[in-house]
Amino acid sequence: MDGPSGSGKSSVSRGVARALGLRYLDTGAMYRAMTWWMLRQGVDLDDPGAIGARCGEPLIVSGTDPDGPAIHVDGIDVAGPIRQAEITSAVSAVAAVPEVRARLVALQREIVGSGGIVVEGRDIGTVVCPGADVKIYLTASAEARAQRRSAELGDSTVRAQQEAMARRDTLDTTRKTDPLLMADGAVELDTTAMSLDEVIAEVLRLVAEHTGPS
Ligand code: DC
Repeated sequence: MDGPSGSGKSSVSRGVARALGLRYLDTGAMYRAMTWWMLRQGVDLDDPGAIGARCGEPLIVSGTDPDGPAIHVDGIDVAGPIRQAEITSAVSAVAAVPEVRARLVALQREIVGSGGIVVEGRDIGTVVCPGADVKIYLTASAEARAQRRSAELGDSTVRAQQEAMARRDTLDTTRKTDPLLMADGAVELDTTAMSLDEVIAEVLRLVAEHTGPS
């Protein structure tokens, strides 16, 4: 499941994993955890060389329970801290560093293993799991995405949120390594006018269509 921020990836992925009794992996949380560690270490985030040189150091452990996705860095529970605004505004710079992506993609592939999992991110269909049974690219209008994110955070205006998201989207879609783009064979689902339950139902229908008996 790929798509820009606010497209509904997390809620939809967790709902689908729950409905199908599958594991769930939030790869964005891993990039956020890496960013949390870099900031804590005082690494200069304007220096991709410094980020790349140190990204092998933290031990990042990601859980796969859709009801309570856990994430630890060097044994510290960072599920709360990685959602803070400081991380949100810094993460795109860290996620653009090729060494960071190589390390986290390898970890993600290890967790995915032989399947039975819903994985969300930006490069899942293109890089992490190009052989996935079902690839979905979730979109929504910029207004709808900003509104959802503002409601979730309850701490910024929709306009400010929309501007911040546009900046992040630009960084995530224009970076050289593994930018956000729709994978070959992916189904695009525009969720602007859909409720969460409607999107989950549509994804479950697509899963049945792609994996059911032919
Ligand atoms: O989905 P999110 O907002 O938690 O993602 C945080 C950042 O990590 C986002 O700016 C893009 C990046 N990311 C990425 O580059 N590749 C992924 N597979 C997942 C997230």
